[in-house]
Amino acid sequence: MMLSFTLNGQGVRLDTALDKRVVDLLRELQALDVKEGCGTGECGACSVLLDGVHRLSCLMLAAQLQGRELTTAAGLGSASAPHPIQRAFAEHGAVQCGFCSPGMTIAASALLAQNPDPTRDEVRRALSGNLCRCTGYVKIVDAVRAAAKELGDAPSDAPSAAPDDETAGARGKP
Ligand code: FES
Ligand code: FES
Repeated sequence: MMLSFTLNGQGVRLDTALDKRVVDLLRELQALDVKEGCGTGECGACSVLLDGVHRLSCLMLAAQLQGRELTTAAGLGSASAPHPIQRAFAEHGAVQCGFCSPGMTIAASALLAQNPDPTRDEVRRALSGNLCRCTGYVKIVDAVRAAAKELGDAPSDAPSAAPDDETAGARGKP
């Protein structure tokens, strides 16, 4: 069946099975910034924005893309022109192996679109479906708050004194 949608601002039209998982379709289209971790909706690595809403591409079927606008981390920014969230992740050491980073930045983007001045707790809650095995989450929360500040909505509260919650997340959800 013919499928038409927008991927990172570019029109896509192709003949494909409409019951194919979106994560598989995206990787076939060389959107390799979209990662598959668990494949069961648990890790957030496959996060995308569908019409601006944070969704998990491993739980979506191609048919759900018809006529819609899909954004991956590559659609947020590039190495030469990074989105403030992507730049903040790099500057704050919020990236180690990088496997979770596309999904994290997508989730952060969805958060800041809804809440431009999130507290640390709000950031942790918004990213609670995105798992990171490496960073311990503190630097990720720092990066999201720095990006919020750069985007013109400076966080109003001081850094949280609850790093235990974040470091504990290195073995599970934040
Ligand atoms: S691969 Fe989709 S949530 Fe883990
Ligand atoms: S940086 Fe390695 S999983 Fe997050």
